[in-house]
Amino acid sequence: MVAVSPDHAQGPTREGPSSNDEGDAFVGEYYDNLRLLSEGSVNRHFDAYTDIDWQSPEFAVIEDDERWILPATDPLGGHPWYLAAPRDLQIEIGRYRQANVAKVGLQFEGILVGGFMNYATSLTNGDPEYRYCLHESAEECNHMMMFQEMVNRVDRRAAGMNRVLRFLAPFIPLAAKGFPTLFFIGVLAGEEPIDHTQKAVLREGGNLHPIMRRVMQIHVAEEARHISFAHQWIERRVPRLGRAQRFLVSLALPIIMRVLADAIMIPPKSFWERFDIPEQVRKDLFWTGSRGRGLLTEVFADVRMLADRAGLRTPLAKLVWRALLIDGRSSRFRSEPQRGPGQHIAA
Ligand SMILES: [Fe+2]
Ligand SMILES: [Fe+2]
Repeated sequence: MVAVSPDHAQGPTREGPSSNDEGDAFVGEYYDNLRLLSEGSVNRHFDAYTDIDWQSPEFAVIEDDERWILPATDPLGGHPWYLAAPRDLQIEIGRYRQANVAKVGLQFEGILVGGFMNYATSLTNGDPEYRYCLHESAEECNHMMMFQEMVNRVDRRAAGMNRVLRFLAPFIPLAAKGFPTLFFIGVLAGEEPIDHTQKAVLREGGNLHPIMRRVMQIHVAEEARHISFAHQWIERRVPRLGRAQRFLVSLALPIIMRVLADAIMIPPKSFWERFDIPEQVRKDLFWTGSRGRGLLTEVFADVRMLADRAGLRTPLAKLVWRALLIDGRSSRFRSEPQRGPGQHIAA
């Protein structure tokens, strides 16, 4: 692990009510952007209960509703095995899969909130990061409630992440204080695939169940801020690291991306067993076949852009990216639509 101490750890903590000015330490574009993000959180935010009418008849979950059939943007939804499956099995798999994705989302966000709480306690008085981290945590708590309501209605069997990650979940937030760079990389590694998936599904605009559409619309709107913050934090932070730390972070970044992409994107063992899905289908999708490979490459286009900008894509690091099957063209701007071989399954 890289011993990365917070930038702000060197300065004395300012105490007492006298520091109502923000001091010289917190000026510049980065802090201006943080203040703008915080204002954005105040001016445009959602509530899991006032912005979603859970009792509305259109949100009712009916078991044989064809709108639960996975869209083509879902990796499994576009697979020939799934397309050839009987209608009722397609619906049942679709319900479970969509509930499970929501469950993974809320488990991941729980880890993130825990980490932000730890990280925020290391900040000095007056640091605008504190306010923004708490805004983001409050938004994530709303997302967790929203996702849990969805899981409760759609399929209560959804287990979420695989067992290993569920076991590690309480410990990961501890890294946020001592190893914030690795923690923020982990934040992005979770947020990017979830955001990419949801945007692809919304862009496709198919016959989604209204619960899915509403929850994803809200989530995508708020995640834009969260991902922007993680990008800016890493971009600012990396040049301040020592040479050895930067080297280690350049290698850790693709590894964390790949490990978390697997944990978040691959449904747990129970999913494959429950529906008796052939092993070959899992391999095709995650990640042996060209369909899966295209997806894995696409998901991290924005992260490659960030790594380029932060000077983390050294020739050696690129070898790691390639070996982990997550190398490819970098985005030119955030959320640039991908036109690679996996576009049709961009989920
Ligand atoms: Fe979220
Ligand atoms: Fe988020």
